[in-house]
Amino acid sequence: MKRITFIGTGYVGLVSGAGISDFGHHVICTDIDKPKIEALQKGQLPIYEPGLKALVARNVKAGRLSFSADVEASIRKAEVVFIAVGTPQGDGGAADISAVKAVAKTIGENLDGYKVVCTKSTVPIGTGRLVCDIIEKYKPEGVDFDYVSNPEFLREGAAVMDFTRPDRIVIGADSERAFEVMRDVYRPLYINETPMLHTGISTAEMIKYACNAFLALKISYINEIANLCESVGADVHMVAKAMGIDGRISPKFLHPGPGFGGSCFPKDTRALVKMGDREGIPIRTVKAAIETNNEQKHRMVLKLKTLLDGELKGKQIAILGLSFKPLTDDVRESPANEMIAVLTKEGARVRAYDPAANATMSKIFPQVEYYDSWEEAASGTDAAVIMTEWNEFRSMDLQTLKERMKTPVILDTRNVLSMEELREAGFRFDNVGRKKGTYN
Ligand code: UGA
Repeated sequence: MKRITFIGTGYVGLVSGAGISDFGHHVICTDIDKPKIEALQKGQLPIYEPGLKALVARNVKAGRLSFSADVEASIRKAEVVFIAVGTPQGDGGAADISAVKAVAKTIGENLDGYKVVCTKSTVPIGTGRLVCDIIEKYKPEGVDFDYVSNPEFLREGAAVMDFTRPDRIVIGADSERAFEVMRDVYRPLYINETPMLHTGISTAEMIKYACNAFLALKISYINEIANLCESVGADVHMVAKAMGIDGRISPKFLHPGPGFGGSCFPKDTRALVKMGDREGIPIRTVKAAIETNNEQKHRMVLKLKTLLDGELKGKQIAILGLSFKPLTDDVRESPANEMIAVLTKEGARVRAYDPAANATMSKIFPQVEYYDSWEEAASGTDAAVIMTEWNEFRSMDLQTLKERMKTPVILDTRNVLSMEELREAGFRFDNVGRKKGTYN
């Protein structure tokens, strides 16, 4: 069993740290954010992620997982140090890797014996070289280390499952010794015959961007097809279904909607474009996907406006769903942000409800009224907009919804409601890539 330290206790660090401790290793999750560590020591998680609380509790109880605000000591105790700090968007779209660089310096200063240093954060290609140079500069003479790039493919809301049952593990390592160490770290998965790809460091870094950007491309593509379906009277769901049956295409990430959001796709697509521009290799397809995505978010506002005969001022609008996807309280770059921003700017009153993200959204839009149920949020409103496909919206009782609302108008940006039922209930509605409905 290995002694492992994770630096950074965000989504990636917490899920991967807890997941690796579940494999039987001794893991310390460390962070410079003391209040966060104190909360974790009391069993309070800073994020909402299904299954994570139980995973953390189980491994803390078994004595395999602990939390510490002493980053230096945690590095010294480890055989493998994972870098899992944030890489937010910096100036002009490139990823800001200042936290990664600061951590590399601390690792160098505390390298007291051979360690494998492994980056899990999504970092621009070439960062591995930079991290090595920094560690090299600050480490004591005669002490060795190896560097590994081990990108993560976790989806928020399904991160624990993605960690325990990944499609593949990518290990970018120049040294065979480091690869062997990483194989031990992931031993249960290796034994399970999870594909484990041993690549070079920049190849591993590239794989992460190539995957995220490709999935983003798929979404923007299906959104454009959906928009065209609206014009020509086709149904995007049947189109996507037929496309997905083709094994070369696959049905995943072909669900049309209000555009992709979250902390990864928007940031990583912009960073990839930036890298391409820097290298003189323009990544035109991804540029287009970003543009389409921005327009898609705005298109939802225009749809609502049309449903309300062009007037938003003075209207009361229920926003159902705020997070960028279900099963998370994360509202970063959520399509709901654009919707709320325009509505409030144009003088509409917003009543919002999300099963998990009311609190996070209230930090961005304190002027919005937040409610504990869709029934309350919809009361007295001129229109309701479904922005996130939480399951409870799929099973909304349309009669109740209609009775609560001032006028039965609904924009279903995630296509979760049955058009037939909406028509029967007498709603005026619109969605993405299917037929509009008018009052009966
Ligand atoms: C994404 C990737 O799916 C993960 O593999 C990756 O590890 C992660 O980014 C990351 O880089 O850390 P995540 O952002 O959590 O994960 O969420 P996704 O499930 O990929 O959804 C992203 C956005 O695309 C959401 O706004 C979602 O609503 C939208 N989406 C997704 C669609 O509009 N249509 C689809 O068919 C699928």
